[in-house]
Amino acid sequence: MPRIGDEAPDFEAVTTTGKLKFSDYNKGSWVVFFSHPADFTPVCTTEMSGFAKEKEFFAAHNTKLMGLSIDSIHSHIAWVNAVQEKTGVLFEFPIVADIDMSVSKLYGMLQPGESETAAVRAVFIIDPKGKVRLLMYYPPNVGRNMAEIKRALIALQTSDENKCAMPLDWQPGDKVIVPAPKTIEALAERKNSDLEMVDWYLAKRAL
Ligand code: BEZ
Repeated sequence: MPRIGDEAPDFEAVTTTGKLKFSDYNKGSWVVFFSHPADFTPVCTTEMSGFAKEKEFFAAHNTKLMGLSIDSIHSHIAWVNAVQEKTGVLFEFPIVADIDMSVSKLYGMLQPGESETAAVRAVFIIDPKGKVRLLMYYPPNVGRNMAEIKRALIALQTSDENKCAMPLDWQPGDKVIVPAPKTIEALAERKNSDLEMVDWYLAKRAL
């Protein structure tokens, strides 16, 4: 099971947009890779629709989406079609048909204490270098929070771009935490700076 900082395991799979190799799909883009327990279930339908509706947000943040469940490709296609017919929302991103559970097992999406045949609600945020940067796990009976998924993605990207960290409840536009000084000289500089400083090791700046 990959953890934060690990290379995202590569795989080839049948998906609703055709056969895909994960490393090819990931090349040059962030990927939000998420699993759901089953097609044609209510919570999953709300979540997948939520991802589909955020298509423009993810594209604007150089991020591709990829779903997965332990269902056949025929089930996926029938579900995508049914949701589009009922609601007009089209799941355009690939959904892996992980009928042999190989990808779910590779990513720790199958958690046997909960179910031996259905994935839990996992989210992996993977950077363009193929590194796992953030994990979320939710049980089948609790839907995920789209605002938090988006916030976490922006926070990771902003942190990379500005060499900073994000405090509790950080939102885009808020001040960010600057790395603590590593020398006495840097500490003296910090004391004379206009950073918002709670203590020498906890200082914030606007971006
Ligand atoms: C749902 O998506 O509604 C769901 C799926 C599996 C178990 C419980 C709920």
